Amino acid sequence: MKVDLIIHNAKQLVTCASSSEAKKGALMRELSIVENGAVAIKDRKIVSVGKSDEVLHEFSTKETIDAKGKVVCPAFVECHTHIVFAGNRLNEFELKIKGADYLEILENGGGIISTVSQTRKASLKDLVQQSVRRLDQMLKLGTATAEIKTGYGLDLKTELKMLDAIAELDKIHAVEIVPTFLGAHAIPPEYREVKRGSDDYIDLICEEMLPIIADLRQSERNYKGLFKNKPFFVDVFCEKNAFNRAQSKRVLETAKSLGFGLKAHVDEFTNLGGAQMAIELGATSIDHLDVISDEEIEMLVNSNTIGVITPTVNFNFGSCEFADVRKMIDAGCAIALSTDFNPGSAPCPSLPNAMAIACRYQKLLPCEALNASTINAAFAIGLSATHGSIEIGKQADILILDTDDYRQLAYEFGWNLVETLIKGGKKII
Ligand code: NIG
Ligand code: FE
Repeated sequence: MKVDLIIHNAKQLVTCASSSEAKKGALMRELSIVENGAVAIKDRKIVSVGKSDEVLHEFSTKETIDAKGKVVCPAFVECHTHIVFAGNRLNEFELKIKGADYLEILENGGGIISTVSQTRKASLKDLVQQSVRRLDQMLKLGTATAEIKTGYGLDLKTELKMLDAIAELDKIHAVEIVPTFLGAHAIPPEYREVKRGSDDYIDLICEEMLPIIADLRQSERNYKGLFKNKPFFVDVFCEKNAFNRAQSKRVLETAKSLGFGLKAHVDEFTNLGGAQMAIELGATSIDHLDVISDEEIEMLVNSNTIGVITPTVNFNFGSCEFADVRKMIDAGCAIALSTDFNPGSAPCPSLPNAMAIACRYQKLLPCEALNASTINAAFAIGLSATHGSIEIGKQADILILDTDDYRQLAYEFGWNLVETLIKGGKKII
C-alpha cells in the first residue's frame, strides 16, 4: 500500500493507546510508548504504528517527516472551554488580587454577568475575530480539538449568536470544535430581581431554548449541517448563586430527552450533590470536582463518566486548595485535564501549563497528565473512537515535540515544546 505520510525516527512514539474504555486508576500511567517508532498516514487516518524500520519497509510513501529522535504524541484534546466571549475581565482580576471572592463578584452582577453584557453587545464578526486569536494560541500550544461552550448570552438571541460563532470557528479554523450549550451558566440580569426568577429562566431553557437548539442541530440549513453528526453537549453550572441541584437536573433531563450529551460544572466551590445527580443521569463528564465527596468519588469510579479537572482555575484564584486528584485516580477514576479557558476564572490557553500545575499541586505524574489531556479528554467530549491516541483507524492528529522525553511537557513549565502539529494528516505547524 502507498501511504500519504510517514513520521519516523521518534525516540518515543507515545501512543496513549486505549481499550474501548477511558483510562481509569492505574491505567492512567500507561502510555504505550514505541521506542524508535513510526506512524503511517493515509486519507487523514492512521494506517500503521510500529518500529521505524518496519513501517518504512512495509509502506511506500508520498512524504516522510524525520522526527529526529524526538517525541511524537497525540495532539492535545481540550475538553472544557469558554473561549467565545467579548472583552475581558481585567478589573475583576485586580479586585481578586485585592481579596474579592469569585462568587461574591458574581452575586453583585459582575463576573460572568459582566462578560454577558459585553458579549450581548458584540457582533458575530467581532465575537469570531476575538475567539480566533485564542484558538490560534491554543493550536500553537498543541491543541488540535476543543470543546467550546456558550453561556455568555443567557438569552436566546445571544446564545444562538454564540453557537453561530462556534460553527463559524469550526469552519474557518484548524482546531476542530465540539459545541456545548451552557444556557444555565448564570442567572441572567433581567431574572435576578424577580421572585422565582431563576426558576423562570430554567423554564425558558427547557421549554424554548433547548427544543429550538435541538431542531437547529438537525437542520442542514443552520450551521450548514456542521453539528449534525457530531457530539453536542448541554452543560449546567450547579453552584451557589447559580443553579441548584433540582434546577440543574431539570436542564440535564430535558437535554437528555432531546438527544444531547450531558456535562455539568459541579463542586467548584459548594457541594450541592450535583456530581451524584449528573453521574446518575449518565453524564459524559463532570467538571471541577474541588469539593466532591468520597461517596461521589466511588460513584464516579463505578460509572462511565469522566472527571474533568481544571487546576488552572485554582491557580488563577491564587488558591492553594486543589481538587484531590491523587485520591480520585488512586480510587480508580478516569480523569481528564482541561484549561477551562475563560475570561474570569482561567484565561489560559495552554494545556502543558495545566499539566505542569496538575503535576505539582495535584500530584499527577507526567504520564497521567498526558493521558488526561489526550485519550481521556477525547472520552470527555465523545470523540474517543476517532481522537486522542495514535492508533490504527484514528484520525491523524499528531504532535512532534522538541524533546526526547515526554515528561518534559510538564517539567519545563511555561515552555512551548510543539515543533510540528499534524491535523487530519495535514501539517498545520
Ligand atoms: O468553569 N464556573 C463557571 N464557569 C466558568 C467560569 C466562567 C467565567 O468566570 O466567566 C468556569 O470556571
Ligand atoms: Fe467552565
